Amino acid sequence: TPRTAIVAALHDELASVLALMPDEQKQVIGGRAFWVGHLHGQEVVAVLSGIGKVAAATTATLLIERFHVQRIVFTGVAGGLGPGVRVGDVVLARSFLQHDMDASPLFPRHEVPGYGRARFDADSGLADALELACERMLGALPPQLDASTVQAFALQTPRLHQGLLISGDRFVATTAESAQLQRELPEALAVEMEGAAFAQVCHDFGVPLAVVRTISDRADDDAPVDFPRFLRDVASRYSGAIVREL
Ligand code: ADE
Repeated sequence: TPRTAIVAALHDELASVLALMPDEQKQVIGGRAFWVGHLHGQEVVAVLSGIGKVAAATTATLLIERFHVQRIVFTGVAGGLGPGVRVGDVVLARSFLQHDMDASPLFPRHEVPGYGRARFDADSGLADALELACERMLGALPPQLDASTVQAFALQTPRLHQGLLISGDRFVATTAESAQLQRELPEALAVEMEGAAFAQVCHDFGVPLAVVRTISDRADDDAPVDFPRFLRDVASRYSGAIVREL
């Protein structure tokens, strides 16, 4: 089986994945910790990318060039944009776009210069495998959540959404900015800060990528409160459960 990278931006998002690796060896390169080992018998490199597109692109390049991974799975949290994308739901990216890319008027808004396109696709086979993993995990509320956590976040049975995920070097934390993004990109399901950068690098090197994100906040005025609470109490359970199923 191919060597797989499992990536998250933050430690809370990766903790439960690392807990599934019995033999990981830590290597620090470029200020990042790479954990090389096995997960359910498969060769895995787990890594924290750090936050933002530059950190993401650097991590993706190192995973491909130094660690020779053959596929990349990114997991973590995102802010919900699309109507019906609620806190606790899961978004599986089928395509990616950098919402802060703007070389207009030289190039159309959002187009990445030199690529002739604004959108990059997830690998359909890898995304299909993640879809199956999510469906098995989401039949009920995610495992290991106690009643008080479910109540605190008003979690309902999570829904799986698939489509466009947008990334930019901004934490979207006002209802006005969220509304602006929804007007500009009505198909966007959720916003985060790394996925589309991974997608560009994976496109360059021909490495399959899939990204799955749990919704931690609605990218609105409440996001600064919802995001850290969700990250601390819930996020890692989701990513751990999804990666285990995968
Ligand atoms: N990741 C999780 N929530 C986010 C938000 N509101 N903006 C950007 N990235 C996020």
